[in-house]
Amino acid sequence: MDSFAHTKVAILGAGRGGRALLDLLHQIPSIEIVGIADRDPDAPGLQRAREFRIPVTSDAPTLIGAQGVSLIMDVTGDPAMETYLRAHKPPATDILSGSASRLLWELVQHESKLEAELLQAEKLAGIGSFAAGIAHDINNPLQLIMGLAENLAEERNLASVHEQAKDILEAVKRTSAICRDLTRYSRRASPHEDVLVSVNGKLDEALKIARYASSFHDVEMIKDYEPGAAVKGNPDELLHVFVNLITNAVHAMEQVGGTLTLQTQTLDDQVHIRISDTGYGIAQDKIPEIFEPFFTTKAPGKGTGLGLYNVKTIVNKMQGMITVDSTIDQGATFTVTFPRALSAEQGCPS
Ligand SMILES: Nc1ncnc2c1ncn2[C@@H]1O[C@H](COP(=O)(O)OP(=O)(O)O)[C@@H](O)[C@H]1O
Ligand SMILES: [Mg+2]
Repeated sequence: MDSFAHTKVAILGAGRGGRALLDLLHQIPSIEIVGIADRDPDAPGLQRAREFRIPVTSDAPTLIGAQGVSLIMDVTGDPAMETYLRAHKPPATDILSGSASRLLWELVQHESKLEAELLQAEKLAGIGSFAAGIAHDINNPLQLIMGLAENLAEERNLASVHEQAKDILEAVKRTSAICRDLTRYSRRASPHEDVLVSVNGKLDEALKIARYASSFHDVEMIKDYEPGAAVKGNPDELLHVFVNLITNAVHAMEQVGGTLTLQTQTLDDQVHIRISDTGYGIAQDKIPEIFEPFFTTKAPGKGTGLGLYNVKTIVNKMQGMITVDSTIDQGATFTVTFPRALSAEQGCPS
């Protein structure tokens, strides 16, 4: 623990409001959540608290009387709770309830909506730079289809007609796969609850998408995956994290080529994902800045400066960590660490 005063918070009510508060407060290092109470053992906030390893209880009075709580946040919406709190709270404890806590809940909602909008905006801005890559990848099979169709018009041999028809089908499948990948990426992150996600699968998916955004010309690929690495989170958001990190890595090597290394590893209770390049690197004193919104060293149209900011937001939300190790002109390694999810626990990773 550091020497700063921690704010110790207890949350009453674990419905949607309680859960949103938990998600937000959990990310703030100076706040310690000492517990959350709800009468309903299946309340969504209680489930989230168990994931965060925060004590849960059905007994609000005990939590209210707990030692050292500096702030009680009451989001039960229950007038009886307000009355009880006023009569029973320890003298040194502050209370946030009634309309004040409703206001806070609205702010939290608003903030998470803004966050989602920003993410989507950045994604769409990025897709603009995919255009050339997509055009190229769709044009190749189209040219092939055209050639085959021209042949077919003259073809008399039935066996060859069949052969070429099959080739046309394959080429069409390739173009529709491209469209499918892109629609999947461009859609809004689906709001479903966190699920088990296979990290290696997501990295491969991200690689396909990043290929449209940047030229992999002269980029050698090394994959060093640990089988079965899985984390819990939103698959669309995790995809977004990886697309950003891979695109940045490839951008850093664009002029000269180099090696892109994707590595996954599980250690104890954590999954480590490393994305390394041998590109131009980042000066030590710039490292804290690259996560700031709108910090970019790229030409307009090429970078928004929102990539790493959004990456960090998502990683924090998933209770992860991101670190950077870099030497100028030698490359950069971004390491993302998440709590490991056990694949056996809840079925197949998606
Ligand atoms: N792998 C990397 N190698 C070198 N510099 C990097 C790397 N990743 C990020 N950066 C630096 O961080 C800045 C911010 O990255 P990001 O937030 O993704 O925005 P953008 O890519 O739109 O510029 C980049 O402009 C670049 O200067
Ligand atoms: Mg970027």
